[in-house]
Amino acid sequence: MSFVTVAKAGEIAPGTLKHVEVGETEICIANVEGAFYAVGDRCGHENARMSRGSLMGTIVTCPMHASQFDITTGKLMSGPVLELEGITEKFAGCPESIRKAVGEMFAGIAEEQRLIRTHDLPVYEVKREGSDILVDLNGAH
Ligand code: FES
Repeated sequence: MSFVTVAKAGEIAPGTLKHVEVGETEICIANVEGAFYAVGDRCGHENARMSRGSLMGTIVTCPMHASQFDITTGKLMSGPVLELEGITEKFAGCPESIRKAVGEMFAGIAEEQRLIRTHDLPVYEVKREGSDILVDLNGAH
């Protein structure tokens, strides 16, 4: 085990996330009603920073395409939302050819993104010593 102090408990309010870095390792620390958890801070879909997402209970939602993971296990709970419903309405003032091109472009992106596999997040052991939050960098699983 190789525990490293990464944050102070008071820096992470209940229901929030915090990004920390130790060397090249990016970690997302979560406070779930006073219990701290740590997962890799890169989404298993397209690498968005999970700590910029939201936390509801033990479910963390990616800020980019809304994939959801269980913060306690790192397991993928639901995959990315790739449809941009109503995107062409945002171009309502544009000529039909522009609206059509925008719709086709986003449909093409969504099609390619469907082929990207979304992986679980690595999980790190966490312990608290006084006000310090420590993470076991060698313990990712
Ligand atoms: S990058 Fe997280 S869901 Fe796409």
